[in-house]
Amino acid sequence: MKAIIIYNTTTGNTGDLAYKIKNILEQYGHQCEMFRDDNIYLKVRSNLEFFNPYDLICLGSCTHALSPALSFQTFLRRIKKHKLKDKNLLCFATSATPNSWEITCKKIQEMFPELNHIGNIGCIQRNNEKAIENFKLIVNNL
Ligand SMILES: Cc1cc2nc3c(=O)[nH]c(=O)nc-3n(C[C@H](O)[C@H](O)[C@H](O)COP(=O)(O)O)c2cc1C
Repeated sequence: MKAIIIYNTTTGNTGDLAYKIKNILEQYGHQCEMFRDDNIYLKVRSNLEFFNPYDLICLGSCTHALSPALSFQTFLRRIKKHKLKDKNLLCFATSATPNSWEITCKKIQEMFPELNHIGNIGCIQRNNEKAIENFKLIVNNL
C-alpha cells in the first residue's frame, strides 16, 4: 500500500504523531510520504491528480477551538475538490484536553464521507504511546 500523511502542527505535537505513524506504516512494509500542509498546498491546488498514486490518505491536525486548525480546514476544502473515491482515510489529531482530539478527527472524517475510513487516532499533546498502539491494531487489520 502507498500512503500519504499530511498534517498541520503549530508546536510540533501533531508533527511528532505524524512521524510515528510514518514509522509504523514503514515497519509494516508500506510506502509512505509525509508533508506539512503548507508545504504542499500549492501542489494540491494545482494538480487534481495529486492523490492518484495513494491508497491511504492520513490527515492530521492540532485542535484549535474544538476543530482542526483554520488553515488546515482551508486545506481540507481544497482536497475535497479531488476525486478520492475508494481510497482509505485515517484521521489523527492532538489536543490539550481528553476527547478534544476525537472531535477534531470526527470533523476531518465528516468532510470525506466518500472515503473508506479506517480509524481515528489521537492523544493529549505528545503522550502518543497509546495512539500508536491503537494505530498498530488498525494497520494489522488492513
Ligand atoms: C489557539 C489554540 C486553540 C486551542 N484549542 C484547543 C481546544 O479547543 N481543545 C483542546 O483540547 N486543546 C486546544 N489547544 C491545544 C492544542 O490543540 C494542543 O496543544 C495540540 O497538541 C497542539 O498541537 P501542535 O503542537 O501540533 O500544534 C489549542 C491551542 C491553541 C494554540
